[in-house]
Amino acid sequence: MSLQVHITTFGCQMNKLDSELVANELISQGFELCRDNGQADVVIFNTCSVRQHAENRVLTCLGRLGRQKASHPGLITVLIGCMAQRQGTELIERFADLDIVCGPGELHRLSGLINKARDGAGRQLALTDRLRARRTVPTELEDMDTRHRLSQITSSAQAYVRATRGCDNFCSYCIVPSVRGPEISRPPASILAEVENLVAAGCIEITLLGQTVNGYRYCADGPETDFAELLRMVSAISGLKRLRFVTSYPRGFSDDVFYAMAEAPVICEYLHLPAQSGSDRILSAMKRSYTSAEYLDLIERGRTIVPNLSIAGDFIVGFPGETEEDFQDTVRLVKAVRYKNCFVFKYSPRPGTVAARRLTDDVPAEVKRRRNNELLAVQEEISLDLHREFIGQKVEILVEGPSKASYKERPEHRNQLTGRTRGDNIVVFDAPGQVEQLTGTLVDVIIRDASALTLFGELPSTLPNARQ
Ligand code: SAH
Ligand code: SF4
Ligand code: F3S
Repeated sequence: MSLQVHITTFGCQMNKLDSELVANELISQGFELCRDNGQADVVIFNTCSVRQHAENRVLTCLGRLGRQKASHPGLITVLIGCMAQRQGTELIERFADLDIVCGPGELHRLSGLINKARDGAGRQLALTDRLRARRTVPTELEDMDTRHRLSQITSSAQAYVRATRGCDNFCSYCIVPSVRGPEISRPPASILAEVENLVAAGCIEITLLGQTVNGYRYCADGPETDFAELLRMVSAISGLKRLRFVTSYPRGFSDDVFYAMAEAPVICEYLHLPAQSGSDRILSAMKRSYTSAEYLDLIERGRTIVPNLSIAGDFIVGFPGETEEDFQDTVRLVKAVRYKNCFVFKYSPRPGTVAARRLTDDVPAEVKRRRNNELLAVQEEISLDLHREFIGQKVEILVEGPSKASYKERPEHRNQLTGRTRGDNIVVFDAPGQVEQLTGTLVDVIIRDASALTLFGELPSTLPNARQ
């Protein structure tokens, strides 16, 4: 029987993509993916360092490895991802049951390391030395991306494709530049070939990824390709139905990207554009390099050029020195933008960042919690208002599969499917007898009800007048 591997993924879409690529590689070497981590011969944790909470969840998993190994002799345990790069040396010393630690810049070596560990070569540590000095990507690492085939982990109708690696922004609170390295754009030809392969295999929605994806810029020998140009090229691939991109950075965002979105029907009218704060004083302490007025101006240009633009945001509350007045500036910004949804995070000092070194984490935990809840409540009202406007409308959704939460708790909802609109709104609808057939396809549904998080729809064919 083939060796069974289980991957647990924490963190952002970059990590989800890396898990896919690792799964692709291991499967091509004869491994099989298993759903139950108790059955696995190799367990992999793909980790995130963005906040302490994300790291704590992984530390809990690492603490359980001893027991797992005792019940499965020969089990190989692996830590990859951002935490591996940040703390690999320390973690392999601290957790005696951890066999392999491999940073995101060394993933092309992972299957070799697993084989070595299985052959009794001992524990393996692969981290990138002087990561920030790396100006080119090892060919074998880039090849993992270009070999990207359809997902073993998520829906085969959707795929993430990397546009850029790393980040050069050094926002004062953020660990990403030091664990993911400098920003490097992939050659457009590699990206196009990867998307063509995925589409040929049945994928209909592609999400281009980058920490600051709109900063994409590639220039080798020929003319430079910028992000708008890349969008135009990818959107021209025949068979592709939806193209998205995350995450955008507010500075240097060219209007040409909005024009590309408006021109190409395939590009979804969706923008994830984190503001992080509405206070110019805090934005400057965060080293975000734009003001709230510039941010609002960008949103306005986007909405003028791309009608129905749906915008998602990220905010950090309780950044060092954030006063009640600063926080109210954030509340005002959220109200002015009317986001589709916002991700709100409590500031978490990350060792080695400028903010952690120079600023005191002086906003008490209960104030962070209160601001977090208050901002979410403001956003919830906006989300509900925006969602109510959908009632009675017909929308196109990409069906992702059975709606899990309701399905588990309420078996009568087993015919319920979930999907997303072009603007990334979640839609739930009943599809008796069509659950398998509709998963991974685009369908039109009519919206009948709405909550702040979810739209509730109905297939036109299940409406009484459509049956006649
Ligand atoms: N590259 C993206 C986001 C990367 S991290 C961008 O620049 O927008 C995802 C989100 O985590 C960030 O948008 C930010 O809101 C949050 N985040 C990053 N570092 C954090 C920290 N130290 N504490 C709390 N939240 C943080
Ligand atoms: Fe982190 Fe800022 Fe880079 Fe985003 S842009 S990854 S928040 S440093
Ligand atoms: Fe986390 Fe690394 Fe992504 S720190 S947010 S998994 S780039």
